[in-house]
Amino acid sequence: MTHQATLDYARSRDAADPLRSFRDRFALPRDDHGQPTLFLCGHSLGLMPLAARTLITEELDDWSRLAVLGHEHARRPWIPYHENLTAGLVHLTGARDTEVIAMNSLTVNIHLMLASFFRPTGRRTKILIETGAFSSDRHAVTSQLTWHGLDPEQHLIELTPPPGSDTIPEDAIEACLAQHGDEIALLLWPGVQFRTGQAFDLARIAHAGRRAGCVVGFDLAHSIGNIPLALHDYGADFAVWCSYKYLNAGPGAIGGCFVHERHLSGQPHLMGWWGHEEPTRFRMEPLFRPAVGIAAWQISNPPILAAAPLIASLALFQEARIERLRAKSVELTGLLEFLLERLRPDAEFITPREVSARGCQISIRITGSPTRGRRVFELLGERGVVCDWRDPNVIRVAPVPLYNTFEEVFRFSEHLADVLREIK
Ligand SMILES: Cc1ncc(COP(=O)(O)O)c(C=O)c1O
Repeated sequence: MTHQATLDYARSRDAADPLRSFRDRFALPRDDHGQPTLFLCGHSLGLMPLAARTLITEELDDWSRLAVLGHEHARRPWIPYHENLTAGLVHLTGARDTEVIAMNSLTVNIHLMLASFFRPTGRRTKILIETGAFSSDRHAVTSQLTWHGLDPEQHLIELTPPPGSDTIPEDAIEACLAQHGDEIALLLWPGVQFRTGQAFDLARIAHAGRRAGCVVGFDLAHSIGNIPLALHDYGADFAVWCSYKYLNAGPGAIGGCFVHERHLSGQPHLMGWWGHEEPTRFRMEPLFRPAVGIAAWQISNPPILAAAPLIASLALFQEARIERLRAKSVELTGLLEFLLERLRPDAEFITPREVSARGCQISIRITGSPTRGRRVFELLGERGVVCDWRDPNVIRVAPVPLYNTFEEVFRFSEHLADVLREIK
């Protein structure tokens, strides 16, 4: 296809896109000269829904007008505030409404879930993660092992991709579980790997983990709002996520947790007053009476100003519907794959080619000298392309179906082609 034909194709796809008007409901970033940037970094921090400003302003207004009375009399009373988020999270996670909650932040939630679910006993004392896991996840599991008096050198199993591969096939996870499963107490696995963009078959991993007798937890930082999920049906024991990536809830936004309903009564967990049932919470009695479902796992009262933007964002997802977003995402990454084909071997796709094994994010390895990739990334930045970089040679981009366009995918591929010609 000629340059013009491809551009025309991208524009025609945008014109026919039933979701195109959602872009107008986001703040689109601009450079120092007021020009719109080519933003492809929603896998890191999603754009601001315009309604977030309204929601936060409403909370500030209620605070100024009502002060402490806002707990009960704000337009969205602050005491049961988390309930505003439940339906949207149910839609995105495929959980039952008692299984899912917005609370805390991601690594804190990993620790809380491990406090509940990592119960090393007898021979079963190890934790399985992937080699190259996100640093915070690794820090969380190693510190939990140490907390239990277990040496991470002996008790952390890190599964490495097969030689020559960047990604880990599910059958390698199954083989590891078949071999070491009776020593593994818990596995913590990403839904989508942050560096490669590989999306895992979570139903298969949950099944294999549970069959081996292990607790199965998922880190969905890069999955939620990206790929439809069915956490209840997968049968995972727990899951955690943040809300500042595809969920567009802003820097430091409130995170979330899932606990399967089979654990909702009886599983030990750390407690605080906010997990106490609401009707009697303010009696301040010494005995803990748990709220229904995962609400009992709350510890502190939630940060209203960090939760308000999530209400705005989840409303957009409920309107757009995650299945329709996924369908558009598959087309966006399909176009990107097609356009990057001509840039091989300078730029190599490390994200899997199979559509089912990837979400919005595409990770591109820049080949050549050790400094070339970084230079290419910097020049893209000078051209107004907002993407990100992972050492030693990977550029990550994510066309996000809520606000990116087919034409932007085309323009990105043109910039990358130009820059690769410039930096040999
Ligand atoms: C996979 C993964 N784990 C953990 C974190 C850390 O998140 P937080 O700072 O919200 O705890 C991130 C942040 O991007 C992440 O992507």
